[in-house]
Amino acid sequence: MLTPTPHISVAPMMDWTDRHCRYFHRLISPHVRLYTEMVTTGALIHGDQRRHLDYSPEEHPLALQLGGSEPDDLATCAKMGEDWSYDEINLNCGCPSERVQKGAFGACLMAEPDTVARGVEAMIRAVSIPVTVKCRIAIDDEDDVPFLTRFIDRVSGAGCRTFIIHARKAWLKGLSPKENREIPPLRYDIVRDMKSRYPHLNIIVNGGITTLPEISDHLKYVDGVMIGREAYQNPWILSAIGADFFGHVSASKHDIVARMTDYTARMHRDHGVPVKSITRHMLTLFQGERGARAWRRALSTTAHLDGATENIIMDALGALEASG
Ligand SMILES: Cc1cc2nc3c(=O)[nH]c(=O)nc-3n(C[C@H](O)[C@H](O)[C@H](O)COP(=O)(O)O)c2cc1C
Repeated sequence: MLTPTPHISVAPMMDWTDRHCRYFHRLISPHVRLYTEMVTTGALIHGDQRRHLDYSPEEHPLALQLGGSEPDDLATCAKMGEDWSYDEINLNCGCPSERVQKGAFGACLMAEPDTVARGVEAMIRAVSIPVTVKCRIAIDDEDDVPFLTRFIDRVSGAGCRTFIIHARKAWLKGLSPKENREIPPLRYDIVRDMKSRYPHLNIIVNGGITTLPEISDHLKYVDGVMIGREAYQNPWILSAIGADFFGHVSASKHDIVARMTDYTARMHRDHGVPVKSITRHMLTLFQGERGARAWRRALSTTAHLDGATENIIMDALGALEASG
């Protein structure tokens, strides 16, 4: 089930939405759904499962995003995710990077709906939590609507009820992943069209959404909204989302900094996590306010020093207040 209502989530973002980032986002918003970075089936099956899967219980509701295409491997990894108490398993069919294409998964899978369907079927058989798919509207020269409907027909036929659609094509040749998030035009009309064609499915729109009025507008046409870069670069938007869409008043920024300080102390002391691995996600918390630059400078110049502890966070707050 999609919970809570409305369905608003923070996108999976490699190297950004790690567990520390998610913990920080969760402190600001108890309601938005959070996604892990993409984890490949190979990394889970052959690598350090604990490192890839561990998270703090506060992070729920939390989805594990998988990258892969081989049904048995996907089923094994989905089951690991369920055993780790994730709330959803999401399959990445939207990432256009060369590395991902070599592994034959990500966006290039959209050209192989049968393969995706077999993977989805295998995962659904293996777990009782929802299995969802994140995709683009199309790839390369494919005609958007017929291509996307063929994909959704086949994959929903395999049991997937929720499609998160990044409202752009992926151009697999000639554009970097970053360019692929900026250059292909946004086609929200196509995502909305999918909701009218498939009213029984959950259709979540993603791509280029940065303001509350935009979110409200999308929610008139589709079931949910996923926000990526804006949530990372301007995390306080999650507080405004909490207030507007969930009637939730978030803690103050200072309270959140205090709780992140406790978290950093715990992670550093008990798990040897470098302080900078946590503070890097907090640099933009005060964006747009007086003292924001002093905060950012203090955090980024001290966090990587040998012997840095959680105390640098309170020192940075001091720098912000002194310059504000
Ligand atoms: C740094 C970065 C890493 C990303 N990594 C992933 C990923 O691991 N899996 C995925 O499905 N999408 C990934 N994306 C794409 C986002 O999930 C999202 O679809 C895209 O940024 C468009 O949404 P936005 O305009 O709100 O940022 C990544 C995006 C960024 C900026």
